[in-house]
Amino acid sequence: MSVLLDHTAERVPLSSSEPQEKDVHPTPLLRVKELRVTVATSAEVVHGISFDVPKGTAVGLVGESGSGKTLTCRSILGLLPAGAEISGGDIEFAGDSITTLTRRDAVRLRGTRIAAVFQDPASYLNPSITVGAQLAEVFRVRGRLPRKAARDEAVELLHAMGLHRPAHVYTQYPFELSGGMLQRVLIAIAIAGEPELLIADEATTALDVTVQAEVLELLSQLRRDRDLTLVVVSHDLAVIAQVSDEVHVFRDGHIVESGPTRQVLRTPRHPYTRSLVDSHERFGIDHIRRQRDDR
Ligand SMILES: Nc1ncnc2c1ncn2[C@@H]1O[C@H](COP(=O)(O)OP(=O)(O)O)[C@@H](O)[C@H]1O
Ligand SMILES: [Mg+2]
Repeated sequence: MSVLLDHTAERVPLSSSEPQEKDVHPTPLLRVKELRVTVATSAEVVHGISFDVPKGTAVGLVGESGSGKTLTCRSILGLLPAGAEISGGDIEFAGDSITTLTRRDAVRLRGTRIAAVFQDPASYLNPSITVGAQLAEVFRVRGRLPRKAARDEAVELLHAMGLHRPAHVYTQYPFELSGGMLQRVLIAIAIAGEPELLIADEATTALDVTVQAEVLELLSQLRRDRDLTLVVVSHDLAVIAQVSDEVHVFRDGHIVESGPTRQVLRTPRHPYTRSLVDSHERFGIDHIRRQRDDR
């Protein structure tokens, strides 16, 4: 097993007794460096994207549909669609390059240290198996727990996901749950293996606004309580504004603006970011901006 995949392998800190300049910027959990992605038509669609995700933070990627957010996430996950490939740059996780992992190691990394949730949670569940059994399976296989213990862990995690009557939810089939409940189940499945990084790509897009806000609050809570680092991806600036400390604005496969979320919302520098902020004034982003100022 490589060091990268070993939970127990702590990285030796760089620091010595003398405080040094570089200690101010410890290795980020995730570093995307000059990432380029090319699709089957041999067209480059991601043109050298760079950003860091420091441990314990929530980083937002925002931009209109087709701007390259999902291909960037899938590159991180080692899950690019057929025909798409990383054609330049590098991705580092906890200081190690993960772009050149073997398929097997990439699968293992995804199963342990990096997890993801996407839009349309129902499509990731087996319709003919109860959601509880599907979650318990993670504890049985990854945690090697016996059946009863896996069930108990699953019920407890469903409870922690804010689902009422978790023991009952455990016995339900996907079609019996609302979209918001299903996304909570998917988040439970994603974090059951205690990953360090969770990528949520348009994870709340299909939900109505109130439920969306609740699921975003759940993500923030998991970050606080479980030491989870988040990458939150949305075409909707309001979603990013609610959860992320830093934001990167995508347009046509480039990052056109980056900065602390509050700053980008208050004083967007790029005309495209300004248009995103302006188009949201009407939908209450001002309200979120004020909330952040009050903190
Ligand atoms: N499997 C694919 N084959 C060919 N082109 C793709 C594929 N997936 C995405 N693209 C193209 O790559 C660009 C970026 O897509 P994507 O990363 O999905 O954008 P976003 O998530 O920001 O909406 C788009 O122009 C899209 O059409
Ligand atoms: Mg997308």
